Amino acid sequence: METPADTTESFASFTNRADAAGPADRVAAVDLADPAFWRLPVPARAAAFAELRRLPGPVYFGDRATGRGFHALVRHADVVEASRTPAVFLSGPGVTTPAPARWVRLLFGDSMVNLDDPRHAQLRRIVSRAFTPRLLGRVEEDVRRISTALVDRVERDRPEDFVSAVAAELPFQVICTMMGIPERPRREILDLVNRTSADIGVARTLSRRLRSPGRGLRALARMQVIVAGIGRERRRRPAEDLVSALVTADVDGRRLTGRELGAFFTLLLVAGVETTRNALAHGLHLLTVHPEQRALLLADLDGRLDGAVDEMVRHATPIIQFHRTVAVDHELGGPGGPLLRAGEKVALYYGSANRDEAVFPDPDAFDLTRTPNPHLGYGGGGPHYCLGAHLARQEMTALFRELFTRLPEARSVGEPELVPSSFDHRVRSLRFTF
Ligand code: HEM
Repeated sequence: METPADTTESFASFTNRADAAGPADRVAAVDLADPAFWRLPVPARAAAFAELRRLPGPVYFGDRATGRGFHALVRHADVVEASRTPAVFLSGPGVTTPAPARWVRLLFGDSMVNLDDPRHAQLRRIVSRAFTPRLLGRVEEDVRRISTALVDRVERDRPEDFVSAVAAELPFQVICTMMGIPERPRREILDLVNRTSADIGVARTLSRRLRSPGRGLRALARMQVIVAGIGRERRRRPAEDLVSALVTADVDGRRLTGRELGAFFTLLLVAGVETTRNALAHGLHLLTVHPEQRALLLADLDGRLDGAVDEMVRHATPIIQFHRTVAVDHELGGPGGPLLRAGEKVALYYGSANRDEAVFPDPDAFDLTRTPNPHLGYGGGGPHYCLGAHLARQEMTALFRELFTRLPEARSVGEPELVPSSFDHRVRSLRFTF
């Protein structure tokens, strides 16, 4: 089991090597495929990505001869290109590492993040009906009501941990309300979400690796059973909610099957809860450690909040990376660019793209007045661009407006407890006070 001492040691050896060596050696010391890299403190990882961005092309991590590895896309322009050229950069067979096993996909259904056209477009047409501006307008009221209730509870109970009391609750309650999930199974579902996502992409010890697939899959299976039951019920008696819309919708002669509904619900929970929760937690902490930005925000909450939540997502980048598989030989950036071969993997590092000095002046600064702010926190555009980006903005804006209007002294205490992961920038807990 990794200890804090191990982490400090790796950081020390990285920085020592970095001090002693020139840029080429410093880059040679970086291995994005090594789980130890993802246990380094965030500033050390950021420094490594800054070195990688200085190189003329993407570095391949792993053994290129056997195809066991990936090209690291670390620049803004490269991540945008890969995101917006879906005929070359495929999402199938999977965008996370490791890719979902074939039998898992057969049993539980494919998630739209891992699909390509025409199946992706077909599914996205069905589910995006739940995310139209008109429907999100209706959700806005729910988001405000839930934010108010959460801040009421903070005032009343004075909880210590911002993550469990506020940041995880808001997106979870919003999605359950949108989907029409009754109150009763919500606690069980939240617990299942935590278990399902706890090990994605995390650097794991062997014993955990052996234990966790069963745990995660059992949680996934249980969640699918719950949601399939709700789906059957709504097919018989449709209500004004997302599950009803999805199981009765008829797009191109298609509606969601029970399995697709289960896969979509799981995706919404894992994609929509974890990300927003981490963005909110990083957001509160960023405003605490940058008092001048906080003062700017509080002086004009209505005028500055939109810029603030976008800058939080840029700076914190809740999702670190997704993968794509190269369909045909491709020269990155145009003719003469680095050759990516058919069948090879590429990793899209959103956090690195969001610190690309070619796009963001003084990229490490947290600056909520940054305009424009073309960050890639929700993806680099293209067909898989985050379906919930607008909803996430609504949630963050509503929560911080409510919090700072009523409790302007709200701030984090100490450092966030981070979970080492190559997949997301996860905060386990964050103490706070007002
Ligand atoms: C701050 C919060 C969020 C962040 C940082 C975030 C980030 C992302 C990223 C990076 C992607 C991949 C984009 C790509 O491959 O091009 C994505 C996809 C997705 N997100 Fe989000 N997300 C957030 C909130 C949400 C919410 C609230 C929901 C839904 C309730 C959601 C649902 C989805 C779905 C369904 C996809 C897959 C879309 C597709 O494959 O077509 N996300 N998100």
